[in-house]
Amino acid sequence: MKRIIVGITGTSEVSLALTLLEFLKKQKNIETHLVITEQADKILKHETGKDIEDVRKLADHVYDQKDFFSPIASGSFKTDGMIIIPCSMKTLAGVANGFSDNLLLRAADVMLKERRKLVLVTRETPLNYIHIKNMETVTKAGGIILPPVMSLYSKPKTIEDMEKHIVGKILDIMDIENNLYRRWGSE
Ligand SMILES: Cc1cc2nc3c(=O)[nH]c(=O)nc-3n(C[C@H](O)[C@H](O)[C@H](O)COP(=O)(O)O)c2cc1C
Repeated sequence: MKRIIVGITGTSEVSLALTLLEFLKKQKNIETHLVITEQADKILKHETGKDIEDVRKLADHVYDQKDFFSPIASGSFKTDGMIIIPCSMKTLAGVANGFSDNLLLRAADVMLKERRKLVLVTRETPLNYIHIKNMETVTKAGGIILPPVMSLYSKPKTIEDMEKHIVGKILDIMDIENNLYRRWGSE
C-alpha cells in the first residue's frame, strides 16, 4: 500500500491534477490525501468547468488548506511522497523558503524534512530569475522540479495524450506502475 499526498495549486492546466487523481483512484493499492488551495479551487471551476466536489471525490482523504491539525501536517504520519500538480510560482516560493502558511506548504515542508519524495509540477512561462533560484533551492533540498513540457516523441494525438505522458513521468518518479504513455524503445 502506498500513501500519496496530492496538492493542487492555482495555475493554468489544472486539469493535469484530474488526470493524475483519476489514475490513482483506479489503483487498489494507493491511498490518496488531497489538499487544494483556495486559488486552485477557483481556477478548477473556471478552466475545467468541473464541480469541486467531483474533484474531491477522486481522493480517499481531503483536507482544508487551513487545517494544520490534519495528519499530513506531521512527519510522524508516514507517506510515500507528495505531488504538487500544478505548482504555482507562489507555492514554489513558499516551499523554497520554508514558508508554510497553508497545509499544502506545510505538507511539502514535511516531505523535505523527512527526506521523502516531493515532485513540483511547476507551471509558468517564461521564468524570471526568482523562479529559477527557487527551483534551484528546492532541487538542492531534495525536491524534483517537473515542468509539464510537451513530449512529441510519444506521438500524442490529443491534449489528453500529452497530459497522460506528463502524469506517466510523475508516476515513474513515484515508483507507480503505469502505461500512460508510449515509452521510447517500446516498439
Ligand atoms: C486563470 C489563472 C491562471 C493562472 N496561472 C498561473 C500559472 O500558470 N502559474 C503561476 O505561477 N500562477 C498562475 N496564476 C496566479 C496564481 O493563481 C497566484 O499566484 C496564486 O497566489 C497562487 O496561489 P496558490 O499557489 O496558493 O494556489 C494564475 C491565476 C489565474 C487567475
